Amino acid sequence: MMANNTHSITNIEEIRGRPERSAPAADLDIRQLSPAIGIEVLGADLSRSIGDSAFQRIRKAWEENCIVLFRGQKFSLIKQLQFASQFGAPAKTRRGPPAMLEVTNALDANGTPGILRNGAVQFHSDQCYLDEPPIATMLYAIDIPSRGGHTLFGNGFHAYQSLPEEIKRRLADRQALHIYDYETDPQRRPERPPSNALRATHLIFRVHRPTGRPALYVNRLMTWSILDMDPEESRQTLDFLFSHQERAEFVYEHVWQPGDLIVWDNRSCIHARTDFDPRERRRLRRITVLDRP
Ligand code: SIN
Repeated sequence: MMANNTHSITNIEEIRGRPERSAPAADLDIRQLSPAIGIEVLGADLSRSIGDSAFQRIRKAWEENCIVLFRGQKFSLIKQLQFASQFGAPAKTRRGPPAMLEVTNALDANGTPGILRNGAVQFHSDQCYLDEPPIATMLYAIDIPSRGGHTLFGNGFHAYQSLPEEIKRRLADRQALHIYDYETDPQRRPERPPSNALRATHLIFRVHRPTGRPALYVNRLMTWSILDMDPEESRQTLDFLFSHQERAEFVYEHVWQPGDLIVWDNRSCIHARTDFDPRERRRLRRITVLDRP
């Protein structure tokens, strides 16, 4: 069932300002989620707000480990927005209630198909085609198919760290071009990107501001080329980087249960969805967070 409050939200600022009761910090336990990436927080009830000192503990561990998982949560969209606001300002969306997008194959009340892009089966980093991509994305699972529809997360710190020194030297300070194009098969790209596509350039080794650590910031879905490099060399180098960052030892596969909430650090990891039977419903609430309070 869809969580309540979806249609009554008109003003994000008002939601962000509502006073909340806090859960006691001592009840929280943080443990490693997988050898590759992530932490899991135990004992958190996100239907109550998390107090500042507990949140700062979680935030620090999250920034160092790229993703955080909370299981078994039952909370409304308003509570999800309030929790997202502790990370930063929720980004406004063009569809649906302010700041929330349903990632789903279900039809909405008007019979319009939900947003579930084909390209999400390729690894990517959200909105890398913008100059200032969101720092975080939060997904809350509501309906999950009986098989598939998992999300894979790849650790960009480990991917950078384990690169051969010669590649680190060669690509230091180099920028890559990222293009918004969820439809073209990356294996069959035309020579030039569509002229009207959104685009941005970012350092290939992007320094993650909170930790000061470089993370490999390219992805198979949207990274088009390396700037000022011969096209064939750029293609080969990117192919190498994509295969490297997708290696099993850097990747965790999350098998969703309804009530799971994951927040990923969009600056230091890549993600991809696995396939599932489209006759089954998959529905998650997604909020992205900007790099400002
Ligand atoms: C996304 O690519 O942002 C969503 C991933 C998912 O649906 O698992």
